[in-house]
Amino acid sequence: MTASIISGKEVAASLRNEMKQEVNELKDLITPGLAVILVGDNPASRSYVKGKEKASAEVGIHSELTEMPADISEHSLLTKVEEYNQNPAIHGILVQLPLPDHISEKKVIEQISPEKDVDGFHPINIGRMMTGQDAFLPCTPFGILQMLKYKNIETEGKHAVVIGRSNIVGKPIGQLLLNENATVTYCHSRTNDLQNYTLQADIIIAATGKAEFITKDHVKEGAVVIDVGMNRKEDGKLCGDVAFEEVQEKASYLTPVPGGVGPMTITMLLYNTLQSAKAFIK
Ligand code: GUN
Repeated sequence: MTASIISGKEVAASLRNEMKQEVNELKDLITPGLAVILVGDNPASRSYVKGKEKASAEVGIHSELTEMPADISEHSLLTKVEEYNQNPAIHGILVQLPLPDHISEKKVIEQISPEKDVDGFHPINIGRMMTGQDAFLPCTPFGILQMLKYKNIETEGKHAVVIGRSNIVGKPIGQLLLNENATVTYCHSRTNDLQNYTLQADIIIAATGKAEFITKDHVKEGAVVIDVGMNRKEDGKLCGDVAFEEVQEKASYLTPVPGGVGPMTITMLLYNTLQSAKAFIK
């Protein structure tokens, strides 16, 4: 079998197009506003933030960036977040992670109003997601669900194996797939005999952070394989957590890196910001 490629670029473009129209239809009522706070000078963070600004502009979302030096105090950052909590032109607040060591990420995330937490990282939104209530869903897992839906990939009754247990990807994607009636197994770096689990999977979510770690020997014929990885090889090329060429020979669907899950993350951030703005319309 040769896998069909799920292009995140294509799914993202389709969703962004729909959002652009909706933003335009709402223009007399509200302009969605996204505030991004970048602390320090991490080049990867800066490049993500640039991508967010560009994508916001594309769909007509107002975005503003606050840059703060790496030695800013935790108090100053919390104050800035609070300003945005109170700002009626802002409906989504994103503090780019990671933060410098002297600042508590937990405190900063909890400072963001849950009604503007478009990353879906606030414990209130995580609790809402866990209990199946309306919530801002974390953007990468939410984007993965949209890719599965776009291709009409059935999740009900399927065995999904998630490899990775981060708060941002692994844990929430398992929960979302469970909400979609999949049977979910979590594996991680300490799992013994990983293949024993992955070979039973109808859907594999690879979020290990290890370049090309998932090979054809981990994959059952016909499985759907979603690659959340973003790694750089020694030759400088980007690659995922999945050995793309060989897994493509066995999977039914496979996401590429780059151009797979990546473009969906920003798209769902815009989606969450738009939903938030709509909830603020009086
Ligand atoms: N750093 C890497 N990914 C993300 C993300 O999705 N949100 C935030 N706030 N920081 C990140």
